[in-house]
Amino acid sequence: MKTMIIHLFTVATLLAVVLMTPSSALAQSAAATYKAKCAGCHGADGKGSTAPGKALGAHDFGSDEVTKMSDADLIQIVTAGKNKMPAYGKSLKDTEIKDLVAYIRTLGK
Ligand code: HEC
Repeated sequence: MKTMIIHLFTVATLLAVVLMTPSSALAQSAAATYKAKCAGCHGADGKGSTAPGKALGAHDFGSDEVTKMSDADLIQIVTAGKNKMPAYGKSLKDTEIKDLVAYIRTLGK
């Protein structure tokens, strides 16, 4: 019985932690998603200077070419893909893509 109560307590604590995660954690999760799914081509610094980034033609997120594109343009490219850029509309939620684009803007500075 005692272990059962401890177990319930653990589950309740975990739930509370998940539910109370502040929205500032969002930025952190965009950074983690970027590292996991995007940095391989775009580089941790967003310059696209990785071997696949260079071979496939990724642009520096800080270049004029990218900074003059609107958030809507970038969201569209991440969602639907473009040339060698894979589409993420099926594997990521709209809100995740929006957060990623906001994160990319911070890399370009
Ligand atoms: C397989 C390599 C690859 C991966 C992985 C990848 N990209 Fe790209 N991405 C590209 C290439 C290549 C382009 C340039 C497409 C073009 O304009 O021809 C691009 C273009 C973009 C652009 C438009 C601006 C630019 O640099 O031309 C954005 C924004 C972008 N990627 C975001 C992301 C995000 C966010 C992820 C992760 C969810 C991601 N990419 C993962 C290769 C990749």
